[in-house]
Amino acid sequence: MEVIIVGNADQVGQVAADKVIENLEGVATPVLGLATGSSPLSLYAELSRRAKEGIVDFSHGLGFALDEYVGIDPAHPESYRNVIHRTVVEPLGMDPDRVRVPNGFAEDLQAAADEYDDAIEAAGGVDVQILGIGSNGHIGFNEPFSSFSSRTRVEILTTQTREDNARFFNSIDEVPTHCMTQGLGTIMDSRVAVLVATGEHKADAVAAMVEGPVANVMPASILQFHPNCIVIVDEAAASKL
Ligand code: GLP
Repeated sequence: MEVIIVGNADQVGQVAADKVIENLEGVATPVLGLATGSSPLSLYAELSRRAKEGIVDFSHGLGFALDEYVGIDPAHPESYRNVIHRTVVEPLGMDPDRVRVPNGFAEDLQAAADEYDDAIEAAGGVDVQILGIGSNGHIGFNEPFSSFSSRTRVEILTTQTREDNARFFNSIDEVPTHCMTQGLGTIMDSRVAVLVATGEHKADAVAAMVEGPVANVMPASILQFHPNCIVIVDEAAASKL
């Protein structure tokens, strides 16, 4: 695990963009793993700027989002399908037909989850997985006590995660109770993982992920065993390291 500490969120985005691009060099069809949340927004903005300048081209790339709410109206602006489209697909100039989000609307959710893992494998695996971290240490929506070998599946959201995400909805009652998420095992299969975090409210989770024991009470700690994981944080998020 390589840890890079920079001054602010914009610099997190710039350094993370350098790392993403560096690790895609020579890859004909880049396969990106995509995170939602506010943490990677400065990274996506920076990748978008560089795509518009012609420094990098994502138009033939493939994308696999980490997660989706189960049971949310697909037209809801906060469904991850819509969030990924708005914050990643359009700004990076990706082909919407080549970017997938777990199908939280499927009748048979586990079949849809299995098919999602198969699609990642058929694409040759994820080259660069972009990650944020929840304040409780989740990655994707792998909540505390998720199995380290888990694959894409349905999970129950913790109260803390629902409270954290209530800001995107009118009230906590509107926040879905379930999600479909890539598993920790799925995430660990990525060739490179780039995790970004900013702000003091992430400091405990970042310290536990980087310096704590590898234990599934802190799901992100499994990244200590990832063969190529780069953690980019601002000073506030690094304050408890
Ligand atoms: C969300 C997502 C995660 C994200 C995390 C942190 O609920 N499912 O993929 O990394 O929680 O979000 P934020 O970056 O907004 O703090």
